[in-house]
Amino acid sequence: MTTAQHKIGSGFGATTTAAEVLGGIDLTGKLAIVTGGYSGIGLETTRALADAGAHVVVPARRRATAEEALRGFENVEIDELDLGDLESVRAFAERFLASGRGIDLFIGSAGIMASPETRVGPGWEAQFATNHLGHYALVNRLWPAFRTGARVVSVSSRGHHYGPVRFDDLNFERGYDKWLAYGQAKTANVLFAVHLDKLARDHGIRAFALHPGRILTDLVRHLDRQELVDAGMVDESGRVTGGAKTPEEGAATQVWAATSPQLDGLGGVYLEDCDIAEPAPVDGTRTGVKDYAIDPVLAERLWTVSAELTGVNAF
Ligand SMILES: NC(=O)c1ccc[n+]([C@@H]2O[C@H](COP(=O)([O-])OP(=O)(O)OC[C@H]3O[C@@H](n4cnc5c(N)ncnc54)[C@H](OP(=O)(O)O)[C@@H]3O)[C@@H](O)[C@H]2O)c1
Repeated sequence: MTTAQHKIGSGFGATTTAAEVLGGIDLTGKLAIVTGGYSGIGLETTRALADAGAHVVVPARRRATAEEALRGFENVEIDELDLGDLESVRAFAERFLASGRGIDLFIGSAGIMASPETRVGPGWEAQFATNHLGHYALVNRLWPAFRTGARVVSVSSRGHHYGPVRFDDLNFERGYDKWLAYGQAKTANVLFAVHLDKLARDHGIRAFALHPGRILTDLVRHLDRQELVDAGMVDESGRVTGGAKTPEEGAATQVWAATSPQLDGLGGVYLEDCDIAEPAPVDGTRTGVKDYAIDPVLAERLWTVSAELTGVNAF
């Protein structure tokens, strides 16, 4: 890590909204790309950034759904992108680069969770491929467009506590477990930010990873009612359980990561509740960041593997 995993006392917290984070911040003239920016916390991220004056590009796997969700939004542009398809990633990046524009904020909010065993591309496990490899390839392909001062935000999860990156069986060929696969992908999201920050900081570009909180969104589309109860998302009667955030609150930490002057000069850290997270306690409580997610050696190893798998490396 380049900076300590310790709270800085931002003055914000779990109930801060994305709009509150942006109070007094004018993003006029800034360009943001928000993957998944048409659903859940991504949608609220798009709304908050656009309301603060940014031009927001939302690459969508389902264009019609994105157009419906973003109808009436000003300063928002929709394009097509399937993160599970590296050809689609390449095509989106080429279209964007051809537009000649620069990127100030990149927020990788798209993701899938606990999906049934699915293979994409050359047999890659879909959660790792979509949540990590797709974003890895996208950021590397877009690299020439990042402006000095830009930030890259990798939306991870407390789910990274489920497990590390399994370098000896990345694709779960020895047996699939949907939660271990989510954990691996979300750990990869953190390691990606750690190593990207190391590579990019000399160019004046910084990277962050984060847990947004627990928010009931379409992310749970692969879970049945009992699994939602078991995961603590809803109670037996289907009501959202205490401690859950609204989507506006869930978007706050990634918007803070992308824009807050409180993070100037920092990078390569994992955030929670609009602050830098503490290290995970040794008693196994699922809070803070696990050592294996911020280990710079593992971060470099994942970068090397990702470059080999995708054939893309901007550095
Ligand atoms: N909600 C939570 O409690 C929670 C907690 C921790 C972390 N997170 C993280 O927060 C992020 C956003 O989650 P959310 O709750 O906002 O979920 P969501 O409402 O399901 O939004 C996810 C977005 O990702 C897009 N997406 C999925 N697969 C894609 C692909 N192959 N290519 C392009 N886009 C794709 C989805 O598009 P389609 O709808 O078209 O598939 C959707 O727009 C995720 O990375 C998740 O892991 C969420």
